[in-house]
Amino acid sequence: MDIVNKLKQSIVVWLIKGVQKFGQHRVRILGNTFEISDKVFNPKYYYTSKFMAKHLTVTPEDVVLDMGTGSGVQAITAGKIAAKVVAVDINPAAVEYARKNVIANNLEYTVSVVEGDLFSPLDEKPLFDVILFTPPYLEGQPRSDFDHALFDPDKALLKKFFKEAKSRLKPDGYVQMLYSSIADHQQALAIATKQGWKHKLVTQEKTFSELFLIYKLTLN
Ligand SMILES: C[S@@+](CC[C@H](N)C(=O)[O-])C[C@H]1O[C@@H](n2cnc3c(N)ncnc32)[C@H](O)[C@@H]1O
Repeated sequence: MDIVNKLKQSIVVWLIKGVQKFGQHRVRILGNTFEISDKVFNPKYYYTSKFMAKHLTVTPEDVVLDMGTGSGVQAITAGKIAAKVVAVDINPAAVEYARKNVIANNLEYTVSVVEGDLFSPLDEKPLFDVILFTPPYLEGQPRSDFDHALFDPDKALLKKFFKEAKSRLKPDGYVQMLYSSIADHQQALAIATKQGWKHKLVTQEKTFSELFLIYKLTLN
């Protein structure tokens, strides 16, 4: 990683950790309310959550997986439209609050939340029409449950995700993933390409610190 991105990543970690501690714990995103604790990725202050939620293209027929749900923001936004949503997170606090938020948004018949590492807590069926993925992408070692929201050392999680996601999509299904220029998005795409995925840029937006990019990835 070059020195500029290394510096930007350190600033982003510092900012996010501050916001987790001192930011509001009851926030609104696109008309939905989310309650979180300081151990759950706050969807309000760091732009990625809202940016991804704004660009969901799920349809009423879709069965959706929200991988790494955090507060449940993508699952709940998708759940207002889709037929069914399953949300997964490795952080027990995220699972607890995502479940609370699903109930607070009256979506308990549409959205279910499970705890575990990537696809491990899921049955082999059903297959999904859409998998939403807002992964951690900073370099560093996770040292707490919350740190899983930030760090993916050597993109190990990304590699595992693209390997395992292959057998979880319906034939015309797709992955929608958010990534950032400060974490070498080209390398992230190369990992997916190596595993047989094709990608298309859906949209991108530049903020003061980084360029956020949303991709659609397919196997066909
Ligand atoms: C950047 S946060 C995004 C949270 C949420 N999707 C949003 O848009 O605000 C990444 C989330 O992925 C979760 N995560 C990290 N590694 C995971 C894994 N191996 N399995 C499941 N979830 C994971 C983290 O705990 C965190 O909640």
